[in-house]
Amino acid sequence: MLILGIESSCDETAAAVVRDGAEVLSSVIHTQVPLHAPHGGVVPEIASRSHMEMIPSVIRRAVEEAGCSFADIDAVAVTYGPGLASSLLVGLSAAKGLATALGKPLIGIDHIEAHIQSAFLAPGSPRKDEFLPLLALVVSGGHSAIIRVGRDGAPRIVGQTLDDAAGEAFDKASQLLGLGYPGGPAIQKAAQEAHGELGFEFPKGQISRDNPALGRMRADLCFSFSGLKTSLRNYLQKNPVRDREHLCRIAAAYQDAIVEALASRCAKALKGCGCRGLAVGGGVSLNAALRARLKDVAEEAGVPIFLPEPRYCGDNAAMIAALAGTGAGVRGEAALLLDATPNLSFGTSPSAIREKLLAKAP
Ligand code: KG4
Ligand code: ZN
Repeated sequence: MLILGIESSCDETAAAVVRDGAEVLSSVIHTQVPLHAPHGGVVPEIASRSHMEMIPSVIRRAVEEAGCSFADIDAVAVTYGPGLASSLLVGLSAAKGLATALGKPLIGIDHIEAHIQSAFLAPGSPRKDEFLPLLALVVSGGHSAIIRVGRDGAPRIVGQTLDDAAGEAFDKASQLLGLGYPGGPAIQKAAQEAHGELGFEFPKGQISRDNPALGRMRADLCFSFSGLKTSLRNYLQKNPVRDREHLCRIAAAYQDAIVEALASRCAKALKGCGCRGLAVGGGVSLNAALRARLKDVAEEAGVPIFLPEPRYCGDNAAMIAALAGTGAGVRGEAALLLDATPNLSFGTSPSAIREKLLAKAP
């Protein structure tokens, strides 16, 4: 079963061909980072226009590099949410057109759920189903969530950020420190150069139990990063950056606060949840300090950790095609009725989405 995956939810235009939900035959990613860097963040209109320009050649290259032809493709899988509306529309429209022209099924995929799959894409990696129930941490520029994937493969958020995403916290700090965009790699680099302590600790994002945004989630599994950013701004007002050494110490203390917030919640979530592994995904999973700390957390919990290879940490289409290959996603006639869904609510069952779409079908 060869699935062509298409991803355009944010600022990467990507296409990939994956065999049987596991073997990546090609993965082409065109990143728009240089286009957005001068603006300090992703500009939606620039993103969608670039997707429009790039998507035909990215798809063509993915098929060529896989050593197959369009006729060999058995299904087309595409991200339909969450993400930027105008970016999602480009990939979804291309996928609908392609599936219709080829007479092949379309499969609609949830971007966040796909990030979990990226931890199982390395050659020789075990399959995700062997480690269910599984705990997953998805940390990117737009999302930060702790997810439990049940024995039946159904994912459910057990904890998350109540405001900014972890990547956003890195990006905003980088801007305040004048280190540019994207912030994660810049903060990591500065943190690695730090010698000695800052003598000041940034808050680790604790949430009080009576926070109304918690809903049914546990306070000790959720976190907040907006206070962290404010704390950095206040610190800088009182202590302007003196020199590179001071800057590096600030970056290290700030990175430490994010890593600790994420790792301590994962450690708590692993306690008594019966999970058989910890998987990590999203752009922030590139962070070396986070990877090292999470390895310790998994070891203490006595479970294996699955970390994506660097090329699969950020947005890519191999994770989209691979997840579709496991039987997940919105399938059948209903998929052709899917709309770009920027605020896709995580964990909505594909069958519920299918029924809703078919009920209002023209
Ligand atoms: O998953 P991704 O490529 O795109 C989204 O879906 O958001 O994640 C991008 C985010 C950015 O916020 C970027 O600063 C962050 O991932 N990031 C990192 C590192 N590399 C990228 N954060 C921390 N450390 C890194 N090494
Ligand atoms: Zn992503």
